Order: sequence, then structure tokens, then C-alpha cells
Amino acid sequence: MFENLKAQPADKILALMQAYREDPRETKIDLGVGVYKNAEGVTPVMRAVKAAEKVVWEEQQSKSYTGLIGDPAYSDAMIKLILGDAVPRANVGAAATPGGTGACRQAFELIRMASPGARIFVSDPTWPNHISILNYLGMEMVPYRYFDSETRGVNFDGMLEDLKQAKAGDVVLLHGCCHNPTGANLNLVQWREVVDLINAQGLVAMVDIAYQGFGDGLEEDAQATRLVASSVKECLIAASCSKNFGVYRERTGLLMAVSQDSGQTTLNQATLAFLNRQNYSFPPDHGARVVTTILNDDALRADWAAELEEVRLSMLGLRQQLADELQRLTGSDRFGFIAQHRGMFSRLGTTPQLVEKLRAEHAIYMVGDSRMNIAGLNAKTVPILAKAIVDAGV
Ligand code: LMR
Repeated sequence: MFENLKAQPADKILALMQAYREDPRETKIDLGVGVYKNAEGVTPVMRAVKAAEKVVWEEQQSKSYTGLIGDPAYSDAMIKLILGDAVPRANVGAAATPGGTGACRQAFELIRMASPGARIFVSDPTWPNHISILNYLGMEMVPYRYFDSETRGVNFDGMLEDLKQAKAGDVVLLHGCCHNPTGANLNLVQWREVVDLINAQGLVAMVDIAYQGFGDGLEEDAQATRLVASSVKECLIAASCSKNFGVYRERTGLLMAVSQDSGQTTLNQATLAFLNRQNYSFPPDHGARVVTTILNDDALRADWAAELEEVRLSMLGLRQQLADELQRLTGSDRFGFIAQHRGMFSRLGTTPQLVEKLRAEHAIYMVGDSRMNIAGLNAKTVPILAKAIVDAGV
């Protein structure tokens, strides 16, 4: 049997992570995988996470199973964090999942189950693992124009034009904030237009929100997702705590199925539980419990929000520093988009050949499509990157 196995294509983000580890050059800079690093290059355990883990350790009396959807208190706290008061709780079915990837995977499976012929419209580009999982599940994908390689902003007209090709029942996959891999985002006026189009054409919205708090702030970053949830007939929302709680390896995510018809919620919820059971039974609990502990305790929550805000502001500062440095070196504003982008990533918008040159000659690692993880920088490495970008002829 094993002889029939075929080597699968390497995930380009994870392959890059490996190549970086193996590079002996001391000057190397890792702008690859989307993991936050502080100025010392460390991905710290957040203060509130440490404190909540202590609480869990002291209070937890059993490691027996939770429910198939995880602890309902986790769903409640996360729904409140992401959706605020945008939709009544009774309209939301939810289940804990192993990270945001698990939530996306379960969402895709639910779509395939409920609507086997639906096509998934994905932004061009989108997170490579969206494509990889959809391919693996044999689901049809249609790219819609998103990134404007001239302005490095969103090609909004192109996006609308392409989404108009979608038929009733097709699914539109949207990034709730901090678009991965480009860093270019819609404004709220544009979001409203997308929502109108979804409603006019009878499409289904799916929102992937993995970076709440990394863009313009916790509330601000949730606005688009709240708008979608409160304005469309039904939608799926895949959420991750990996980044904003820094609990990457704990695999802490949530999938929500939101319907304007609250009579649908029991079945939606039961379907999410069923999908969990088929794939891994009970979702991981530790990260979810830590997140719940933080969100339900005023002091821990305030400390978490404050540290997240420090993280957000540090990335904004690095963006500005890089844009300013490039302005200084080139005498032009053509890299000004770096300060406009939001979240962890910016797509530089250069060729794979120049990305390779940056790696070979300057030990700078970014994803082949020229996605840079801004959090991989610090005040000292920004000028090194800026000079390399200019020297390489980007
Ligand atoms: C990324 O895009 O780098 C992160 O979401 C990590 C991952 O799993 O790819």
C-alpha cells in the first residue's frame, strides 16, 4: 500500500520556515511564517495567557471530555468578542475547532455537504492553505481579482466584476481583516457594496478572521465581519486565536454558522458537532479554556487587550519605519503602501526571482509571492531590509 503514496507538494510557507532554520548565516532575517515576534525575535507567551494558565491549573479538577462543540462558555465568549451585539446569540451555531485552519476545513466540509455544487470564490491571492484544502476536498474554486499590483491596494472594481459572475448558492470567501497574504483591505463602504452584491445575487458569505486586533484595533477589525453577519441571510465565520492570543500551538479556533432564521440554529449547531465527531471527536480544550478565562475576567481581559495593542502598535511602527526608510533611499513614495497595509503581512509586489535574490544574497526570507511578515522585523533590521530591497532592484 505505502508504495502507492505520492509525494505531496510542500506547503510553501512551512518549506520556507525549514529553509530559514537550516541557513547558517548569522545575519538572516525571517519574514516568512505568520508568527508574531517581539524586538528580540521571540514569540512570547502573553502575560494574560500565563496568568490564565495558572488559574486553569489551580482550578481544573478533571481532564474528562468536554462536548463535541467544546465548552459552550468558549463559544459564548468568542461570539461576543467577534460579533459583539451585531446578531442575537440565538442565531449563531458554533463549535470549537483545532485552530483557524480547523475552522476553515470544517466550514468547507459543511459547504460540500449542504451544497455540493457550490463554487468557492477566493481572492487572488489568498492564504495558500485555503487553496490546498479546497483542492484536497475536490471543491471547485474560482479566483476573484483582489490585489492591484500597481497600487498594491485592492482592485475593487475587478473584485466586484468577478463576483458578479457568481451564481446563487456560490460561496464568497472573504478575509475579515488584515488580508493574508497582501495586507491590502477593503474599507467599510466597500464592504457594504460586497454585502449588497452577496444579497442581490443570493451568494453565501464565508469570513475567515485570523488577525482580529492586529490591524486597526479589536473592535475596528471586527466591524466588517459584524456587518456581514448582520446583513446577509446566512454565513460561516472561521476564527482563530493563534495570533491575537499567541496560542499558536494550542490549536484554538471557532467555527460559527450564522443564520437570520434562529429556527435553523439547532440543526446548524448539531451539524458542526457531527463534523467535529467525524474528523477528530472533541476539539482541543486547553487553549480554548485559557481564552475563555481571559475573556471572562475583567483584569485578565484588560491586560490581554493592552498587550495586544502593544503588539499592534509595534507592527504599525515598523511599517512606518520601513516606508520612511525606503522613501529616504529611493526619494520616492512608491513604497508608501507598506504604511497603509494592515495586519502582519505586506505584499511587496515583486517577482519570485527578486524574492529569491533577496534570500540568496541578503539572507532575507519572504514567501515567494513577496509576502513579508512585518513582525519578523525590528528597528535594527528595517534599514537592512530597506537597503536590500533597493540593492536587489525591487
Ligand atoms: C501564515 O499564513 O503564515 C500563518 O497563517 C501560518 C500558517 O499556518 O500558514
